[in-house]
Amino acid sequence: MAWSKLISTAAAALITLSLAAAANATHLSQDREESRLEPIGQVYMEGDEVPTVSNNPVVAADTASDEPRSGEAVFTAACKTCHASDSAIPNAPKFGNQSDWEPRIAKGEDVLLSSVKNGLGAMPPMGMCMDCSDDELEAAIEHMISGVQ
Ligand code: HEC
Repeated sequence: MAWSKLISTAAAALITLSLAAAANATHLSQDREESRLEPIGQVYMEGDEVPTVSNNPVVAADTASDEPRSGEAVFTAACKTCHASDSAIPNAPKFGNQSDWEPRIAKGEDVLLSSVKNGLGAMPPMGMCMDCSDDELEAAIEHMISGVQ
């Protein structure tokens, strides 16, 4: 499970919930007023049925797909910071820059993939996409190469 996907799914769920809550706010105000006046906590006498409270955190339904992200999506999310055509990172081959990419392409895709996985010079391992699969990294590399072909 990619955490970033889970987090964005959870964030989307929260936004949906808060929008729904806002829509209901006027209807709920009466109830809220009453619930605010309730005492905090409750006392249970011996023999009372005590409701059980689940400690399980609410986990957003796993609606995120497990399909690999496209090279463009990975590039935009992780690599663009350093590889955008106007990036100021020295040495990083810039998107669309033929002379930056020619010597890199000449190394062959396997070498490029292992450079990204292990890190190279100022590039951190995984190109900072810690949850990327090999396929996703490869797709991102291909996306960058397609910028000069
Ligand atoms: C923090 C900046 C940074 C990020 C983020 C980053 N790179 Fe890099 N990348 C670099 C730098 C700098 C180099 C040049 C390293 C060198 O040759 O010293 C480089 C080089 C490369 C190369 C050429 C490797 C070689 O063997 O010549 C590829 C391919 C590449 N990056 C792909 C990616 C991909 C794919 C991502 C995203 C998943 C990514 N990079 C994210 C900074 C970055």
